[in-house]
Amino acid sequence: MRVFASLSLVAVALASFTAQSQTPAAPKLAPQAQLATPQVSPKAQVVSQTPPMGWNSWNYFAERVDDKGIRAAADQLVATGMKDAGYVYINIDDTWEGERDANGVLHTNAKFPDMKALADYVHSKDLKIGIYSSPGSKTCAGYAGSLGHEEQDAHMYAEWGFDYLKYDLCSFIPDVMEKQAPHDRAAQMRLMQAAYAKMDKALKATGRPIVYSLCQYGWDAVWEWGPSEGANLWRTTGDITPEWDRIYAIVSQQEGLEEYAGPGHWNDPDMLEVGNGKLTLAENRAHFSLWAMLAAPLLAGNDLPNMKPEIKAILTNRDVIAIDQDQLGRQGARIYSDGEVEVWTRQLSGGALAIAVVNAGDTRYSTHPFHLNLRKLGLTGTQAGKDLWTGKTVELTDNEPLELAGHDVLLVRVDAPKITTSTNEVSVNK
Ligand code: GLA
Repeated sequence: MRVFASLSLVAVALASFTAQSQTPAAPKLAPQAQLATPQVSPKAQVVSQTPPMGWNSWNYFAERVDDKGIRAAADQLVATGMKDAGYVYINIDDTWEGERDANGVLHTNAKFPDMKALADYVHSKDLKIGIYSSPGSKTCAGYAGSLGHEEQDAHMYAEWGFDYLKYDLCSFIPDVMEKQAPHDRAAQMRLMQAAYAKMDKALKATGRPIVYSLCQYGWDAVWEWGPSEGANLWRTTGDITPEWDRIYAIVSQQEGLEEYAGPGHWNDPDMLEVGNGKLTLAENRAHFSLWAMLAAPLLAGNDLPNMKPEIKAILTNRDVIAIDQDQLGRQGARIYSDGEVEVWTRQLSGGALAIAVVNAGDTRYSTHPFHLNLRKLGLTGTQAGKDLWTGKTVELTDNEPLELAGHDVLLVRVDAPKITTSTNEVSVNK
């Protein structure tokens, strides 16, 4: 992070460039008609049939992660009911790495005295455990990466009992891409793809089902080639921060990527910041709702032992989690916006539909006047549903005035949507 501090900025720019320039504008068609049919390996289907859920150390603890903190996070995942709500992975991010010995074996640093014992502890809670590395010689925080030791490292992760690997590009850029292919962007991207394919092969050779998470900030339209390289998820942007503007900027970059997500292979708009920084409750709710609409991996990144009840209530809202984890695996999309208000839908299994109305503006006056246009969603007549944040039954009517606080969300599940017959409209389930 320190070493490659400027990376995320470049990545943001590049990711939005590729998203805008290389993916087609979303046509006004029923989303299911646009679905790509990526080649997905059978392993991918097994380990991430729905978007991975769990907790990762980076967003709150960063370099302060250690064995004790990981054990505490595992304990808390169970004690808070998050495990019961579906959170499974406890992922160690950067800064666990020590030095390599004469045989090339990478050792842990003093913060992690016994990785195998730690993995056993996490498994004893009926949870799974994840680890982090880089295809370069150094990780983003400047610790040892896997360059030249890919098979050896993959073997070690499997022996320790790891179930998940986040593989972060970082120093592979100067180490290999810029060195071997200076000024040749296309050749650099081929080198990057080959590095990800190499680790995929090494992981597969272990015989252990290990979720493979690509972290290269969305470069080179990773959503197009990630699934065939064994990726279960791939970052679509630079780093998230616990600020509404950053979260909203990331959301805006997801447009057009919905056709690339599906069972076994997911777009990753980065880990959750729910409960971090100075996000308001409305912002935490909207962030979590939008990640659910995006079928995004739900990796909490907060201080679990000191989690406030209202944050726990957001992270364990089972109705919202059910949207994220819907078996159909179809990512939602922004259907229209009106001023600073956005309307998203996501198709769900059994013909159901999730509708999210987000006030991206700073105050409730952004929703003055806002009237919900159900026809633009391909719906006709009153829609009976459930407001997933109040738990109340609601009826959405066309042209209904809605008022939302700044950065707040209305998230409604409609189990039996009434659909227009017109084929020209943005549609839902036919
Ligand atoms: C990069 C990644 C982050 C985190 C840090 C660790 O910035 O994008 O998610 O893993 O590296 O150094």
